[in-house]
Amino acid sequence: MLMKTNHIGNQLIKLNIVDSTNNYAAKYLKQTKIPFGTVIMAQYQIKGKGQVDSVWNANKNDNILMSVILDTSFLSVNRVFYLSKIVSLSIHESLNSFDIGNIFIKWPNDIFVNKEKIAGILIENQWKGQSLISSIVGIGINVNQTLFPESYNATSLKLLKSKTYSLDEVFEKVIARMNYNFTLLNNLSFDKIDSDYHKYLLNYNKITNFFIKNKIVKAKLCGVDSFGKIVLKMDNNELKYYDLKQVKQII
Ligand code: BTN
Repeated sequence: MLMKTNHIGNQLIKLNIVDSTNNYAAKYLKQTKIPFGTVIMAQYQIKGKGQVDSVWNANKNDNILMSVILDTSFLSVNRVFYLSKIVSLSIHESLNSFDIGNIFIKWPNDIFVNKEKIAGILIENQWKGQSLISSIVGIGINVNQTLFPESYNATSLKLLKSKTYSLDEVFEKVIARMNYNFTLLNNLSFDKIDSDYHKYLLNYNKITNFFIKNKIVKAKLCGVDSFGKIVLKMDNNELKYYDLKQVKQII
């Protein structure tokens, strides 16, 4: 039996090199009695994973690369995306304290500053039948890295503020906000989470361009539902719900 504490960061595993902290967490979760709330951190990942089968490359020692193992068995299937919402919020709030300008959550869960990505999230859920049992929350935050391939459209704290940051300081802030927001989730405070998430959602309530079925379409971004689908109001006032594979937001 795993411990049910979920206090995030109570147990911290620090690694120099790993394939992916998410993979390490998954193996660990299968093999041992790991307490929920355990955080795995690495200085470098050989095979960092991004969303939709992409890779997450990050220089050694410059960035936050971490995974958190959480008991999410209390979340019903139609509320699973709230985990993603609270993780985006936690990163948003922790970066906000560094005074780096307007930070936005780009649907579904990328963190952007000035149209450039500063952090990404990869959540991998474990299921038993139809029920969620646990989640591995992978977080990558660009902190002191200053060179990125152009195609990454990335930024970092150092690029934005021209100074070097302590990774421990950033880490502590993320852990503090994760604990706060995970408590909201545990208390099933979905309305509060929704209102916070939408406050920082990029282009919320604005008419923007989307790429849908190989066409550029103008639509109003009306929100993100509990399944994580983006809700768009089309030209004819019809509401449409799309998942990540069906639509791309043009920024
Ligand atoms: C994205 O594509 O935006 C998600 C990036 C998630 C990267 C983090 S780094 C730590 C954790 N381990 C991984 O292999 N990926 C996540």
